[in-house]
Amino acid sequence: MIEVKNLCKSFGEKEVLKDISTVFDSGKTNLIIGQSGSGKTVLVKNLVGLLEPTSGDVLYDGRNFMAMDKKEKIMLRREMGMIFQSAALFDSMTVLENVMFPLDMFSNMNLRERIQRAKTCLDRVNLKDAGSKFPGELSGGMQKRVAIARAIALNPKYLFCDEPNSGLDPKTSLVIDELLHSITHEFNITTIINTHDMNSVMGIGENIIFIYEGHKEWQGVSADIMGSSNQKLTDFIFASDLLKKMRNAVINKEM
Ligand SMILES: Nc1ncnc2c1ncn2[C@@H]1O[C@H](COP(=O)(O)OP(=O)(O)OP(=O)(O)O)[C@@H](O)[C@H]1O
Ligand SMILES: [Mg+2]
Repeated sequence: MIEVKNLCKSFGEKEVLKDISTVFDSGKTNLIIGQSGSGKTVLVKNLVGLLEPTSGDVLYDGRNFMAMDKKEKIMLRREMGMIFQSAALFDSMTVLENVMFPLDMFSNMNLRERIQRAKTCLDRVNLKDAGSKFPGELSGGMQKRVAIARAIALNPKYLFCDEPNSGLDPKTSLVIDELLHSITHEFNITTIINTHDMNSVMGIGENIIFIYEGHKEWQGVSADIMGSSNQKLTDFIFASDLLKKMRNAVINKEM
């Protein structure tokens, strides 16, 4: 579980995050949604320590990240897995070497154990036979799955994914969503996903935080969205006229 308390972030005069308080649950896919520029990436960067909050606290299962010294932060980072917008694989390394990389850096395993662990992770994302390939030989969706395998190699307690579906077709996005959802439940991970993707919101939105111009405008589960009276949320979700008409048809039928 990650608790965020009164988190603020400014860049100079520009206030990007405004007093955000929320809880991201363990064993759930927690989604951060909001329009481009609303502050999703800045929020996640503050959570993982890539940016320093202007004020506020972030507690990882009760441990205050902001109060930690450098060494304690490094230790905690080993409990985090990250998947960024582009899969960010190392092009000159094979798929297996990519997945082994965090193990080489941070584990005490011997070579055989590291290979075994990397193979297990690749198997988990259905890429058992891709180990000797190079990232450039894989499709975008496969690269994302390698990134997921690499992110779970060290058994993270916390998994951060910034737009994991960007650049993928709807069907492949579904595969990635289902994979993130199932590993979250299987290993009881606190997973946080930044997304624009409405299919993801409806499919795996177990705890959704809607950010509007840097503040938390709404929080709930996907089932609450349809009936929500929050205008900013519905404007964001039902951005297209077609979706608005469909929603109105549902509401009129219910009345
Ligand atoms: N290092 C920085 N210095 C100054 N301003 C920044 C910095 N990083 C982000 N911002 C600003 O913070 C705001 C929020 O950006 P952020 O990247 O978090 O948006 P986002 O919700 O992730 O958008 P998108 O959906 O397009 O990824 C933007 O106005 C952006 O210009
Ligand atoms: Mg972003």
